[in-house]
Amino acid sequence: MAISGLVLAYLVFRRVLDPIRHLVRTGAGVDKDGDEGNEVRSLARRLGNLQMAVDRARLDLAESRDHLMQSEKLALVGKLAAGVAHTIRNPLTSVKMRLFSLERALSLDAAQKDDFEVISEEIRHIDTIVRNFLEFSRPPKLVARPTSLSDVVDTTLNLLRQRLESYGVTVEVHRVKRLTPINADPDQLKEALVNLVLNSCEAMVEGGRIVIREEEGVMEPAGRVVVVRVSDTGPGVPEVIADRVFQPFFTTKGEGSGLGLAIAKRIVEEHGGWITLHSPEGRGATFALIFPHAEEGSWHRY
Ligand SMILES: Nc1ncnc2c1ncn2[C@@H]1O[C@H](COP(=O)(O)OP(=O)(O)OP(=O)(O)O)[C@@H](O)[C@H]1O
Ligand SMILES: [Mg+2]
Repeated sequence: MAISGLVLAYLVFRRVLDPIRHLVRTGAGVDKDGDEGNEVRSLARRLGNLQMAVDRARLDLAESRDHLMQSEKLALVGKLAAGVAHTIRNPLTSVKMRLFSLERALSLDAAQKDDFEVISEEIRHIDTIVRNFLEFSRPPKLVARPTSLSDVVDTTLNLLRQRLESYGVTVEVHRVKRLTPINADPDQLKEALVNLVLNSCEAMVEGGRIVIREEEGVMEPAGRVVVVRVSDTGPGVPEVIADRVFQPFFTTKGEGSGLGLAIAKRIVEEHGGWITLHSPEGRGATFALIFPHAEEGSWHRY
C-alpha cells in the first residue's frame, strides 16, 4: 500500500518533470533582448527553481522508499526470529530443569562436574540469544518509576558478578554521589547496561578492566542530564564498523545475534535519551548512556 503510493508519486513526478525540463531548455535559448526576452528568462529561472525543488523531492522520495523497504525487511526478520525463539524456549527450559536435577541427583567426579559446567554455560548462552530475539521483536512496555541509575549500576554488577569473574574482568565504579533519580524502567535500563558490560567482557578475551563513570550535568540542547559511561581496556571498535554496531543483526562474533546494542539503543531512546560510542584507536571502547531529566526529556512509548 505504502510502496504503491510511493511508486504513483514517482510516476506523477516524472510526468511533471519532463515537460518542465523541456520548457527550461527552450526558455534559456530564447532571444536575449526586449521585454519578451526578460519575461521568458524570469519564467525560465522560476521553472529552474521549481525543477530543483522537484529533483530534491524526488531524492527524498527515493530515500524514504529505501527506509521503508529496510524497515519492512527488518519487521519480517524480527517476526521470523520471534517465532523461532518462542519455539526454542520451551524445550530449552525443560532441558535446563532436567540438567539441574540430574546434577543434584548424581555424585559426579571432577571431570564430569566440569562437563556439566560447560553444558550449563552453553545453555545459558542459547538462553541469552533467545531472550534477545524475543526482546527485540516484542519489547515489553515500560514500567517507569523514579529510578537512580546508580541503583541500576549496582544491580547489574551484582547480577554479573560470576560472569565478570569468569572473564577475568575487574570493574571500577566512579561515583561522586548517587545519581538523581529519573523517571525510568529499572529493569529495562539494567538490560541495556548488561549488554554493554557483556560486550566489554567479550571484547577482552584475555581479561581486563571496565570503568563505569556516573556523571550529572548540563548538555545542550537537552539541558540537565544523567550519564553512565562504560569504558573497557579491549581493542575498541574499528572506525569502519563504528556506525553499524547499533544496527540490528550486525555482529562480528561467530555466535552473536547482533541485537545487544540495538536493544540498548532502543531502550535508551524510549526513555528520551541517546547512546554514544567513543573509541579512539588503541584505547578501548566507551559507550555512554545519556538521559535528560524527566521534566526536560521527551518520552516515547511504543
Ligand atoms: N566494547 C566493545 N569493544 C569492541 N567491539 C564492540 C564492543 N561492543 C560492541 N562491539 C562490536 O559491536 C558489535 C555489535 O554488538 P552487539 O552487542 O549488538 O551484538 P553482539 O555482541 O555481536 O551479539 P549479542 O549481543 O547478541 O551477543 C559486536 O559484534 C562487536 O563487533
Ligand atoms: Mg552483545
